Order: sequence, then C-alpha cells, then structure tokens
Amino acid sequence: MNQLPRPQVLLSADRIKERLTTLAGQINQHYAGREILLVSILDGALIFTADLLRLLNLPTQLDCMRISSYGNSTSAESAPRITGSLKSDLSGRDVLLVDDILDTGKTMQRATEEISTLGPKSLRTCVFLDKPDRRANGFEADWSGFTIADEFVVGYGLDYAGRYRELPYLGVLPKSSPQPSL
Ligand code: IMP
Ligand code: MG
Repeated sequence: MNQLPRPQVLLSADRIKERLTTLAGQINQHYAGREILLVSILDGALIFTADLLRLLNLPTQLDCMRISSYGNSTSAESAPRITGSLKSDLSGRDVLLVDDILDTGKTMQRATEEISTLGPKSLRTCVFLDKPDRRANGFEADWSGFTIADEFVVGYGLDYAGRYRELPYLGVLPKSSPQPSL
C-alpha cells in the first residue's frame, strides 16, 4: 500500500472537543424544552454528528441524507444531487441540518431547499467548519464550529479521495502533495 502523506494538525482533537461543548451548549439553549430531528449529511458529517449528538441534552431523532457534489473526482458539479433521501416525516418538526463544511454553499443550499418542501416547523443549520472565502451563494449557517482559511482540510470525517476520514484531528495536507482542484 502507498504511504499517504501525513497531514499537519490544524485543529487538535482536544480543541475540537472544547469547541463542540460550547456549540452544543448554544444549541441546547436554543431548543430547550423541544424535541429536534437532526438531519446529517453523509458521509462527511458522520463524525461531527456523532460527537455533537452526544453533547445535546435534548430529545433527538436522527435521519441522514446523502448529497453528491463531486462524483468520484474532486471537480465540482454545478448542482449537487440528492442520492440518498430521508426516511422521516418532517412535517411540523424542528429540524437541525448538520454538515461537515460550508464551502461554496451549494450543498447546504440544495439540502435546505429540499427540506423546506417537506414542511418542517423550523429549520436551522449547523456546520463543523466554515470556509467563507469559497462561498458562491451567500449561504450562512446558524451555528458553525470553526471558520478556516481557503485550504483543503482532512480528518474528523472529511476526506481527500476517500482517505483520512478516521483522523481524530483536522489536518491540512502538506503543500508538496497533490491538492484537489475544487
Ligand atoms: P459545498 O461546496 O459547500 O457544496 O461543499 C461540498 C462538500 O465538499 C462538503 O460537504 C464537503 O464534503 C466537501 N468539501 C469542501 N471543502 C472540503 C475540504 O476542505 N476538505 C474535504 N471536503 C471538503
Ligand atoms: Mg459533504
């Protein structure tokens, strides 16, 4: 097996945990006394969702959707496609949509449009990372863990060509390794 370049640590596991505790506190406060339906966008948001979920002290149901933006390569398709849909009835529910990263914003835009057609009582969004420099549509999340510069990041659920999702920290690939063009 080829040796993969080791990413440089951008956010340590401890720093992520600390920030998630604060973020979850804000979400708990916002929804106090209510039950939420957390919708996670697979695969990237899997780790963030699992950690955030365990810090929420609200009755929570979980559903997942899959949205493909890049196919098998890293070149962006213009409109993300929903490739795996929800199993829950969203009507009248307080929905919290969770993703790994807000980049161009196209994925979240597509997901919120879809969810809005399903009649939720409320819809809010939470992302682990925000890369505002890349935004193509002005989309803003209600809650975001960290704002980062325009660099391709991996780990903590985020991948490069399917790799690195398992890293407990968020890292940046060394400049010498091939960078994906998004
Ligand atoms: P969008 O451009 O906001 O639609 O983001 C599309 C998707 O691209 C995100 O949900 C991530 O899965 C992925 N993505 C964007 N930036 C990065 C990155 O720096 N590392 C890994 N995945 C990324
Ligand atoms: Mg994603």
